[in-house]
Amino acid sequence: MGLHRTAYRFFLGIFFIALANPSIAQQKLNGMELPDVLTMNNGIKVTTARQWRNQRRPELLTFFKKEMYGQSPGKPVNMTFKVFDTDTKALGGKATRKQITVYFNGKADGPQMDILMYLPNQVKHKVPAIVGLNFDGNQSVNNDPAIKMSNSWMDKTKGVVNNRATEATRGVDAGQWPLEMILAKGYAVATVYRGDIDPDYDDGFKNGVQGLYPQLQNRGDNFATVAAWAWGLSRILDYLETDKAVDAKRVGVFGFSRLGKAAVWAGATDERFPLVISNESGAGGAKLFHYTGGERIRRLCTKFPHWFCGNFKKYMDQDSILPFDQHMVIALIAPRPVYIASAEGDTNSNPEAEFWGAKGADPVYRLLGTDGLPASSWPPVSTPVIGRIAYHVRPGGHNVTDYDWAQYLKFADRYLK
Ligand code: GCU
Repeated sequence: MGLHRTAYRFFLGIFFIALANPSIAQQKLNGMELPDVLTMNNGIKVTTARQWRNQRRPELLTFFKKEMYGQSPGKPVNMTFKVFDTDTKALGGKATRKQITVYFNGKADGPQMDILMYLPNQVKHKVPAIVGLNFDGNQSVNNDPAIKMSNSWMDKTKGVVNNRATEATRGVDAGQWPLEMILAKGYAVATVYRGDIDPDYDDGFKNGVQGLYPQLQNRGDNFATVAAWAWGLSRILDYLETDKAVDAKRVGVFGFSRLGKAAVWAGATDERFPLVISNESGAGGAKLFHYTGGERIRRLCTKFPHWFCGNFKKYMDQDSILPFDQHMVIALIAPRPVYIASAEGDTNSNPEAEFWGAKGADPVYRLLGTDGLPASSWPPVSTPVIGRIAYHVRPGGHNVTDYDWAQYLKFADRYLK
């Protein structure tokens, strides 16, 4: 009886959603139907680059800000930078290390983040750079003892005591940040601890940068955590624009997992990033919700209620009938190059659904005159497909490996050099 009633409610729900959205044009992808990235809300098909640029792209951006990621403020007017460390002989002389504190409201006791940056010493002109947030504090990305120890709130993992990093956390994530490999290719690296921008727990936005923007709280499209991290990535770029050693027009944005979700959103919202790299960003990143398998909206919204804005919660259990999906977010990056990478064993991110998310953005890249993603089916492992949209799936689990970085650097060489 109970089962019947649940099934009845479910079908009634679908019926009313279908009734409310009679005109959602579909985009066919591998036998799956997705809401069409190139049909306007008013049903008009987008056929020119100008229509995309002036109408469809703004419409989608407005939608995702309102319904999923929330609103973000602009560049803070009083923000200041303080370079507190410069060492021209870092990493055995191969690099120059700089550390910079960003005071978001210009006040030393206000919210702030520390940028850790390495520049390749062998390059004598302005260098391109890769920016990305890190999971466990700047001191976790390398054993370099001069990296400032994070004092921000941290999850209880790997050498963290009372939610604070200890010396035992130095270099714990070095495997995911092969600095010497990146520097050898002539790129600078700039990274910030995610928790400097917003601590990764549901604290009602009491901590983190949200405190500076009370007008963006207590509303359905509130400034939530993934958007705050993306906003923080833009603030790193603000600093790089002031650093004469860097060519700020050639800064790629990188992110892994939840920080990959942030990198994708940073790429979508900040067109100053000419290249985007999503390493296993999964649900809320590159993964299609319509595709069965992997993390669903209910889990995102209940396990991590702070990541997306309040309005997003109304889409729980509607994954396969959503009026939108992540191919539209990736399309907001077009025509800028974007690399989506998966790992075979990363079922939570659902590698195949990440591939189709990338492929779903392809019509926009093609409309804008690029080659899009030159693959018609999910490629085998260790077989990168490289176009203006690139994709690979490698063997192994949820991680960032040298193999991943080798592909990203080749991709960056193609588009940033
Ligand atoms: C969890 C979460 C994912 C996220 C991942 C990570 O597994 O479900 O959405 O990407 O954490 O950030 O490592």
